[in-house]
Amino acid sequence: MLTRPTGARAPLDPIETASRDEITALQLKRMKQTLQRAYEGSPFYRAKFDECGVHPDDLKSLSDLKKFPFTVKQDLRDNYPFGMFAVPQSQISRLHASSGTTGKPTVVAYTKNDIDTWADVMARSIRAAGGAPGDICHVAYGYGLFTGGLGAHYGAERLGCTVVPISGGMTERQITLIEDFKPSIIMVTPSYMLSILDAYRAAGLDPRESSLKTGIFGAEPWTNAMRGEIEQAFDMDAVDIFGLSEVMGPGVAQECVETKDGLHIWEDHFYPEIIDPETGEPVEDGQEGELVFTSLTKEAFPIIRYRTRDLTRLLPGTARSMRRMEKVTGRSDDMIILRGVNVFPTQIEEQILKCAALAPHYQIHLSRKGRMDEMCIHCECKAEIDEATLQAAARELMGHVKSVVGVSCKVEIKPCGAIQRSEGKAKRVVDARPKG
Ligand code: DLL
Repeated sequence: MLTRPTGARAPLDPIETASRDEITALQLKRMKQTLQRAYEGSPFYRAKFDECGVHPDDLKSLSDLKKFPFTVKQDLRDNYPFGMFAVPQSQISRLHASSGTTGKPTVVAYTKNDIDTWADVMARSIRAAGGAPGDICHVAYGYGLFTGGLGAHYGAERLGCTVVPISGGMTERQITLIEDFKPSIIMVTPSYMLSILDAYRAAGLDPRESSLKTGIFGAEPWTNAMRGEIEQAFDMDAVDIFGLSEVMGPGVAQECVETKDGLHIWEDHFYPEIIDPETGEPVEDGQEGELVFTSLTKEAFPIIRYRTRDLTRLLPGTARSMRRMEKVTGRSDDMIILRGVNVFPTQIEEQILKCAALAPHYQIHLSRKGRMDEMCIHCECKAEIDEATLQAAARELMGHVKSVVGVSCKVEIKPCGAIQRSEGKAKRVVDARPKG
């Protein structure tokens, strides 16, 4: 793995190196304020707390948070569009929304102070990734209602970078602007970075000769194997950024370039818990489960115990004092249950990247033959290869999936470029099984 010496960096915020006691004290103070704000400002939270027989005054220590009810995505849908907010509309300076795959979009809101906090945590994230004032930052996350583009944009400006707000899409133009403006940082989904890589090669350019030194990749699960692939291809550092619109947007947690060992959660603004997804009970740090967040400073839309559906575990701080979350394995919604075995697309990604002949593009197709579910991995070879090599690569992948993931599957190796490319979040699973 590459790790470059870092150049002139902006100083860290004092809280990034604070003691655990200092962090806990700040969290408790802010959690009390947040519960109060939610109870007083949002009829939704007041009704929910009353129904559960809890009051903000019941929180005496951080562990009392477990007395409070969870918030889930359906709550946002049921209260569409503005029913959960805790400030009058006149104090809301920005709205974002996610379309989701089913039903109504979910809408989130920010006051001026919220936008300011978001810019701060994003600036902190870019700095942790190795960015510094003066860097040119190519933002290829989508702009608009999605939080990726504008979140990255405000953070990069706050740090003192020069921002190129290109947004997603028009891949050839991405290459032209990278070549002409010579950004050192790119912020984009890892799957779209692979499309940019394709376009580099198609243009006859060597991606390793590009000006890019740091990639800040997130908004979808990706593996350490994919990190290796992108770092090698571009001769760059690739680090992970995590966030979700309900909690803020990008910049909830960020991997530090010097350690690349999971993502530090900016715990002075976002309080994490891991729960057992079946029972809803919090589990100890170090144990796997579903990530739950409570915002500590948000004004317009305080979020209390939001169930993200993302699966990970909490780990102690390393490069920063705040705790880390391990790279997200996947969302419980994306988990494939195949003949009783739980399979995540990231596990398949790891196996594909072990096969030298295969490119990092893939899609998992699920179908049902009679009463049996079948999984077929569609992937691509790196270069045109003969039939015998192709068959051998398919057998190799089936073998890895069987021995590591524990399921039998089919593999279809398609010609180069045949797998649908992403301009944002990749669609990894195509489920053609009958519903119900
Ligand atoms: O994806 C915010 C974002 C933009 C994060 C740009 C990072 C970079 P949503 O569209 O609300 O917000 O989707 C949030 O995406 O619950 C995870 O399932 C997934 N996700 C986000 N970052 C990561 C990551 C943005 N680094 C949902 N690794 C989350 C794995 C991620 N999954």
